[in-house]
Amino acid sequence: MSETDSLTTGPEHVALIMDGNGRWATKRGRPRLFGHQAGARRVREIVESCPRLGVRYLTIFAFSTENWKRTQSEVSGLMAIFKRYILKEASKLLTNGVRVRFIGDRIRLDETLVRLMDELEVLTAGNDTVHLTIALNYGGRDEVTRATRRLAVEVAAGRLLPEDVGAETLAGFLDTCMLPDPDLVIRTSGEARISNFLLWQSAYAEYEFVDTLWPDFTAEKFEKILQSFQGRDRRFGAVSA
Ligand code: IPE
Ligand code: IPE
Ligand code: MG
Repeated sequence: MSETDSLTTGPEHVALIMDGNGRWATKRGRPRLFGHQAGARRVREIVESCPRLGVRYLTIFAFSTENWKRTQSEVSGLMAIFKRYILKEASKLLTNGVRVRFIGDRIRLDETLVRLMDELEVLTAGNDTVHLTIALNYGGRDEVTRATRRLAVEVAAGRLLPEDVGAETLAGFLDTCMLPDPDLVIRTSGEARISNFLLWQSAYAEYEFVDTLWPDFTAEKFEKILQSFQGRDRRFGAVSA
């Protein structure tokens, strides 16, 4: 496919569970962080392919609320990679029309990282070509819990009536309140599970589990998955015409 071609009815919002960095490194006899570095380098190619492939929203899972269970050296190495990614990619993201947002709980992240995240959000706030959302210290259950807590504060203060609380009300309190629901969730590395990613938002997403380890995931592989998405019959509980 040439640079100028574009798919007709691809998914508008793709969510990606970038898994398999550790195994990719182990297979090469290298430390896990070597895999995470290779994984971080992969992100650019996928983000840059989005306009051509008609993907307007891309949400990527970078670090889960459960990933703190890893060794301290892996966790701090990952945090250093996130900082480096922001510093290295900021100007490219800006000129490519990418608007970056972060979801997840910032409370456990270090001050410098949070400042870099805030700055990148502000820097790219005027962009609209691709909406890149990075899930960092993100967990679906944690997100719903935090949203419910904020909603409960509104109810307790009398600003919201319990009978007025609907699905849309709760969705408005989620970290993703500004995003459409994902149409397609892709997980690399051969694991067929969602590991606490976008639990609420993916109620009617299509899923694609691929064996490729994240550092080997190319724009070409991404495009093939998007093409196969077009053949799917999304019924949303109804009967197709
Ligand atoms: C995904 O790769 C990146 C993060 C979870 C931060 P992994 O580190 O989970 O790689 P595997 O699954 O152990 O191969
Ligand atoms: C999911 O991968 C989280 C990210 C990709 C950031 P994990 O490797 O943490 O998931 P599990 O532990 O295999 O379920
Ligand atoms: Mg993993």
